[in-house]
Amino acid sequence: MEKVCIIGGCGHVGIPLGLALASRGFDVSLVDVNPGAVETINAAKLPFKEEGAEALLAEHIGKNLRATVDPAAVSGADVVVFVTGTPVDEHLNPKIHDVLRVVDSYIPRLNPRQLIVLRSTIFPGVTRIVESLLREKLGAANLAFCPERIVQGKGIEEIFTLPQLVSGVDRQSEDAAARLFATIAPKIIRITPEEAELAKLMTNAWRYLEFAIANQFYMMVETQGLDFYRILNAMKDGYPRASHFARAGLAAGPCLFKDTMQLSAFHNNGFFLGHSAMLVNEGLPNFLVSQLEARMGGSLRGKKIGVLGLAFKADNDDTRESLSFKLIKCLETKMAVVLRSDEFVPGTMPLDEFMRQAEGIILGVPHTAYKQLEPSVPYVDCWNVWKR
Ligand SMILES: NC(=O)c1ccc[n+]([C@@H]2O[C@H](COP(=O)([O-])OP(=O)(O)OC[C@H]3O[C@@H](n4cnc5c(N)ncnc54)[C@H](O)[C@@H]3O)[C@@H](O)[C@H]2O)c1
Repeated sequence: MEKVCIIGGCGHVGIPLGLALASRGFDVSLVDVNPGAVETINAAKLPFKEEGAEALLAEHIGKNLRATVDPAAVSGADVVVFVTGTPVDEHLNPKIHDVLRVVDSYIPRLNPRQLIVLRSTIFPGVTRIVESLLREKLGAANLAFCPERIVQGKGIEEIFTLPQLVSGVDRQSEDAAARLFATIAPKIIRITPEEAELAKLMTNAWRYLEFAIANQFYMMVETQGLDFYRILNAMKDGYPRASHFARAGLAAGPCLFKDTMQLSAFHNNGFFLGHSAMLVNEGLPNFLVSQLEARMGGSLRGKKIGVLGLAFKADNDDTRESLSFKLIKCLETKMAVVLRSDEFVPGTMPLDEFMRQAEGIILGVPHTAYKQLEPSVPYVDCWNVWKR
């Protein structure tokens, strides 16, 4: 049985990949520095919501799947996959050394025969830098870059249905990676590492721009006292070219903003559309607060204002880079008393109490359960869940 070791394996990218490979008969070790997540997985539980993952975990954990904090697990593997990410710093520059440091720390335990796969989103050029690092310190680089493209929460379904971009620093590495991913993906698309690095960043930046267009139009239209969704529905009705037009909403989470900024850094900060999208998307919380303020007589001072939904996307428990927290900060600068509720986020107010206390509400994220609510106080819902 071929052995795969996933570094950063207990995170949102590592778990779906590990489960998918385990389901295809690989022997999988998830190596992670987070002992809590390791313990949770070994107890056959998930550290976060991921549709369809629980059943696979129950089937494979303790058999051909395990989690461990012990980095020595990489030594016996045929394939080592790195999934730890590249954040951006306070100046919006990619911290490429984060990935390099992680790879470097495992090199003493790697051997020149192993296939090394980079899986997280990386700054263009990083695959080649890792290649030279491996050649210098390990004497060989069987290295592939095969970016993850799943949407969080639907990772299990998508990993088996999305085509996989596969690139390698040479033909042998590319072939080995293609063989590995052909066991889970319906289609393999071969490109060069440079192309794959850009394809992943451009995909996320494009999504971020799509949301920015909807958000810009939302703010433009609502400023005039018009209903954005009446216009959007009219635009889309029977007009296929507009069928994919996004609705307005808080464009947040750990990927889209970060990857748009990485792409801009790659283009000498000349990705003007990307920067404009950032101004629009990051400005939406301020706009929503102003909308509520106007609907509540011009002041939120001392009023109990509720932010409903703290996760960065619907029906998910992940609060990383959620713009609901920016909403809360904006409300606090207006001297509002901020209430927060999210059925998936522990420690927040129960929904019925929240609905009883809130004098005004901003919908942060449209969890399915919120659809049936009928707020009796002023509210702002840029998602169009509570249709006016
Ligand atoms: N979340 C997604 O759906 C998604 C989709 C596509 C791409 N990505 C990209 O994948 C990367 C990872 O994202 P994620 O959502 O899985 O992050 P995550 O925080 O959920 O997972 C990363 C994991 O790596 C572990 N880790 C950190 N340093 C380590 C080390 N030195 N050794 C072992 N483990 C270590 C952490 O403890 C964590 O469990 C990011 O670059 C992200 O942009 C994410």
